[in-house]
Amino acid sequence: MKLEGATITWLGHATFLVETPGGKHIVMDPWLSGNPKCPEEYQALNKADAILISHGHFDHMGSAADLAQRTGAPVISNFEIGSYLASQGVENTIGMNKGGTVTLGDIKITMVHADHSSGISGPDGQTLYGGEASGFVVTLENGVTLYHAGDTNVFSDMAIIRDLYAPDIALLPIGGHFTMSPKEAAYAVKLLKPKAVIPMHYGTFDALTGTPEALQDLLAGESVEVIALQPGGQCR
Ligand code: NI
Ligand code: MN
Repeated sequence: MKLEGATITWLGHATFLVETPGGKHIVMDPWLSGNPKCPEEYQALNKADAILISHGHFDHMGSAADLAQRTGAPVISNFEIGSYLASQGVENTIGMNKGGTVTLGDIKITMVHADHSSGISGPDGQTLYGGEASGFVVTLENGVTLYHAGDTNVFSDMAIIRDLYAPDIALLPIGGHFTMSPKEAAYAVKLLKPKAVIPMHYGTFDALTGTPEALQDLLAGESVEVIALQPGGQCR
């Protein structure tokens, strides 16, 4: 897979840093401090131009407020999560919903469906309504298109994501239990037809047993590259 000037770094679990050809830093599903798979050198990440949150679970937004504070970057999420973060003192929030697109210079960030829940763990341990779970399609300045699926099961409308945005590279959860396992993720690949897949959301907790090798086996003979990164590993 050639990203033509972009770099994707996996920070463990569902957290990614995308450095775009135009030099923008996009952080997806920030869970840095407290993420057992986030490399030490990224835990105090202090550069971001946009912070994307797919849904309200702690393992996808646990570091969002801190990172927003350190960087001043806008936090892009569904409307409900944006309102929650604003109530917690985050100043720069962009609440949106599925089908909407936010631009960052020449970069397009589109919110798409995910089949998952989105409750927010409130400060007193209660679960707050967090809207619906989502994924993001990000089209970079050079036209390379990424799809971060968030947490999701496979769903048939992934075929619409394929038709509308034709993602070159799909970041897909494979751990199972809370999301797709390799079986469902392999079906998702058949709907999305990306050139490459980066597996995520596995191995962090004991329950997340799916492996990139299992996904690779299920996709034998398909023309898709499975890129199994180590936390801190990069794809360019
Ligand atoms: Ni989740
Ligand atoms: Mn999760």
